[in-house]
Amino acid sequence: MDEHTENIKQLIDGLEPVNALAVLADRFAGKVVFSTSFGWEDQVITHMIFANKLPIKVFTLETGRLFPETYYVWNRTMEMYGEAIHAYYPNNAALEQMVNKKGPNSFYESVDNRKECCGIRKVEPLKRALQGNDCWVTGIRADQSANRQFMGDVEWDEQNNLIKFHPLYNWTLDEVKNYIKQNNIPYNTLHDRGFPSIGCAPCTRAVREGEDFRAGRWWWEDQSKKECGLHGISEEILEK
Ligand code: ADX
Ligand code: SF4
Repeated sequence: MDEHTENIKQLIDGLEPVNALAVLADRFAGKVVFSTSFGWEDQVITHMIFANKLPIKVFTLETGRLFPETYYVWNRTMEMYGEAIHAYYPNNAALEQMVNKKGPNSFYESVDNRKECCGIRKVEPLKRALQGNDCWVTGIRADQSANRQFMGDVEWDEQNNLIKFHPLYNWTLDEVKNYIKQNNIPYNTLHDRGFPSIGCAPCTRAVREGEDFRAGRWWWEDQSKKECGLHGISEEILEK
């Protein structure tokens, strides 16, 4: 770990997530952003930010292929807290070109097509959302997948040139659910119907009892390919 990342890790070491967020919002004033996909974890962090009026911009990558339940919880969250959630859309020319050439569901045909779609609908808009910022907050937890266990709660993101912080990194799913219940936080009702991890509608399905947390994401693909490029370092390691 480089010195800068180590210093930031020290700065928030041992703090509760909400306090760590406050310290980072101060340390990187105006340059801390949080990405939400409106999953359980994201709703906890959104609550921490909005309920405490932390100066952290909340944004989402609006792929155009989200579940109706996701749009519902997005809207409900804005109403409840009266705060803005900034949407980043894909570049329309790139999207039109892909869909016109390959159709709206090209992602089922090959891993390359799937990565192209994630690239246009998520990765490029993410780059725009992160531009000029110093710290990116996400809802990643260690026990969501095997490779996420090696990330740590503070990382240096080479691709985007900033500190990445996962405030709930060491939380269990039960802790997340209890926090939601205790604080009456709106959440995506798909979670009650077998969807532990929720992405785009055509690329996410419910999992069966005992199946892996992320088994419902890009379920038709080989296990090792299942990251979309947002959290790309782990994906590159896996592909080698
Ligand atoms: S993904 O890489 O497989 O899509 P996952 O769904 O586990 O990621 O979510 C992990 C974190 O990535 C979320 O907590 C959130 O911070 C971010 N994220 C994922 N999808 C989006 C999205 N559409 N918009 C904004 N942030 C997202
Ligand atoms: Fe496209 Fe599926 Fe990736 Fe969403 S998850 S951007 S629909 S390939």
